[in-house]
Amino acid sequence: MVFPIPDDEIVKRCLAVRDGWADENKVRRMAQLCRDAKCCVEVGVWGGKSLLAMALATKGDVYGIDPWETEASVTGWGDNTVHGAWWRSVDHEAIYKKCKALMSDMPHVKLLRMTSADASPSFADDTVDVVHIDGNHAEDIALSDVVAWTPKIKKEGCLILDDIDWPSTKPTQQWLLDNGWKQVENNHNWAVYRFSSSSYTNPNLNHE
Ligand SMILES: C[S@@+](CC[C@H](N)C(=O)[O-])C[C@H]1O[C@@H](n2cnc3c(N)ncnc32)[C@H](O)[C@@H]1O
Repeated sequence: MVFPIPDDEIVKRCLAVRDGWADENKVRRMAQLCRDAKCCVEVGVWGGKSLLAMALATKGDVYGIDPWETEASVTGWGDNTVHGAWWRSVDHEAIYKKCKALMSDMPHVKLLRMTSADASPSFADDTVDVVHIDGNHAEDIALSDVVAWTPKIKKEGCLILDDIDWPSTKPTQQWLLDNGWKQVENNHNWAVYRFSSSSYTNPNLNHE
């Protein structure tokens, strides 16, 4: 693979992945945020649609963390909820195999087939440039994901949090604000956070 791959090409390749949710704006921005990264982490990979944006943007290490396992996906959601029933109906193994094939020619991408909680202790504090949290959005799990992963992010790094419009992620968003993280970009259903002592300022926002 010849780096750098232009943004438009990355977007095209990500949007060609059928299994996933990330849209054009999100994969484009994720790629931009990961351009100079030495280490990126995605929690919640599914078919690899958004992980591919990280993988094509940087030659650094890219970790995709996901157990691809029904019980992990339904934890925190009752069987009688639409959400629980949907996750029980999908074939996690088949999606894992497709994702593995998609990443097979990219040795800098490592798929860690485990939960976020099991994977996070293997990462040292202050070592990750970009973390994308898009795993199980049940209230307690979403919150424990940001508590586990924020210490791993370098001072000038960033956290991308998905599904900020879900009521279940509101306590997570509040925890971030209460713990020194600032929302620097808001894209309706996903947001970028940076630790407030970071010197980074988003040129697209008016900072008071
Ligand atoms: C919404 S999908 C990810 C979508 C993907 N990022 C995209 O944009 O296409 C959520 C994923 O979280 C995974 N997941 C569920 N519980 C998890 C956990 N405890 N840790 C990490 N991933 C988890 C599921 O297997 C599923 O693949």
